[in-house]
Amino acid sequence: MTKNNFSYDIKNICCIGAGYVGGPSMAVIADKCPDINVIVVDTNQERISQWNKNNLDELPIYERGLDEIVKRVRNKNLFFSSDVEGAIRNADMIFISVNTPIKTKGIGAGQASNLHWVEVCARQINELAEEHTIVVEKSTLPVRTAQTIKNILSSNISNSEKKQHRSFSILSNPEFLSEGNAIDDLENPDRVLIGGDDLKAIKTLKNIYESWVPTKKIICTNLWSSELSKLVSNAFLAQRISSINTVSAICEASGAQINEVSKAIGSDSRIGKKFLNAGPGFGGSCFKKDILNLVYLCKHFGLYEVAEFWEQVVKINNWQQNRIFQIIFNKLFGNVIGKKITILGFSFKSNTNDTRESPAIEICRNLLFEGANLTINDPKVSKKQISKDLLNYEPSNKNTIPEFGCWTYEQSIIKSIQGSDAVVVLTEWEEYKNLNWQKISLNMRKPAWVFDTRLIINKEEVISSGLNFWGLGDGT
Ligand code: UDX
Ligand code: ADP
Repeated sequence: MTKNNFSYDIKNICCIGAGYVGGPSMAVIADKCPDINVIVVDTNQERISQWNKNNLDELPIYERGLDEIVKRVRNKNLFFSSDVEGAIRNADMIFISVNTPIKTKGIGAGQASNLHWVEVCARQINELAEEHTIVVEKSTLPVRTAQTIKNILSSNISNSEKKQHRSFSILSNPEFLSEGNAIDDLENPDRVLIGGDDLKAIKTLKNIYESWVPTKKIICTNLWSSELSKLVSNAFLAQRISSINTVSAICEASGAQINEVSKAIGSDSRIGKKFLNAGPGFGGSCFKKDILNLVYLCKHFGLYEVAEFWEQVVKINNWQQNRIFQIIFNKLFGNVIGKKITILGFSFKSNTNDTRESPAIEICRNLLFEGANLTINDPKVSKKQISKDLLNYEPSNKNTIPEFGCWTYEQSIIKSIQGSDAVVVLTEWEEYKNLNWQKISLNMRKPAWVFDTRLIINKEEVISSGLNFWGLGDGT
């Protein structure tokens, strides 16, 4: 695989963590680099079995186009295994792609990332790796985590003779893939970022990406710039969403329409059209975590005003979710006890089965706490996942444990709405865009409401069907 004299020879790649990032990223590398063997390992045996399922509909992650790639390369040069140790021993390059959730207790709780899993990986690599190994941070990590990994990899191991014959290079190669669009983002990225101080190692990883990414799109930086750029990219995107969500409230109050405002401001090429859709608040595994990491970092450096600035983005996000719940509650006469409310969409956005930080969780929890009887529909999220989210959710206010409400899962959209007092659209799934409201209206309990938090429902049709309508950012 060496393309020139300046790179190491990479025959075997190991990726630790077969999750949302590790699985699709490695599938694309294997697909684009047939000469490299890629093995994705995970301690979660169930997840590995799912990746190895014959029925590709049962892969643990739903991403458009992923099944076709897995079909092409699995068991050729892409393997999924729970033999973490064997894969580390054999690897020339190791991607760390494990979970790094926000700490729930102890120092930095609620803001700092829990680096337990990263540290476990680094220790395992230190114990098992042979010869020269390039270790690549793929998970989103707080700035200067690479230093922690470096420190662990330079510490003594039990077999000190073996240690003399091996060495490490550490690189940061953050992933910018957006769920639901992961394969396209991986195959046609806006940019690939590689941070490090070993030029030979950087060149080696660059060579791999150059198999399908134009060289001009590959940005090489120092380690810390790369780590910080990942956090700041997500913070900027999240900040745009919080900004437009505050504007949605101003529109409602002032008689303006958020769609018109988004279009008007987005037409300024300096602002740009993307990421200006108001909604129930951002979800997903990255935005909140990365901003909170940034906030923690700022406080660490004594930059309190800067920390406060970024913290506000998360506060507005929580406020937007709560605001929507309050509106639903108020429109239903300030009482939802025993009322049937249909929730359309539980994933944090369409085209994914991921529910991490989904606004639906907070909104459903609040409605349940008030005694509502929810019927939840989502084309991709399972009942098991919803149950996990609604039961295991750690509310910011410990009193908000549901006391009265109950919920059921319904696969058919039409059945889920039968007999409802209200329909709340929380995810912009294609399936919800062209519903027959004339027909649906006949089976709703009047006065009935439709709440559209994603602006995908035909307002005129809903109103002409005899239903009340509330649209986010619709001040008319
Ligand atoms: C994000 C980043 O886009 C990606 O680069 C990074 O690697 C991981 O985090 P992802 O979490 O998959 O990706 O979702 P994204 O499409 O960015 O959406 C995040 C949230 O913002 C979703 O809840 C979405 O509904 C919301 N959103 C997005 C809006 O409310 N309005 C918009 O205009 C865009
Ligand atoms: P991401 O969205 O960052 O990919 P996920 O939670 O989807 O995060 O996936 C991370 C995966 O990493 C999980 O499947 C978890 O079991 C796995 N994992 C965590 N620590 C280790 C470890 N030390 N060895 C192997 N796998 C690990």
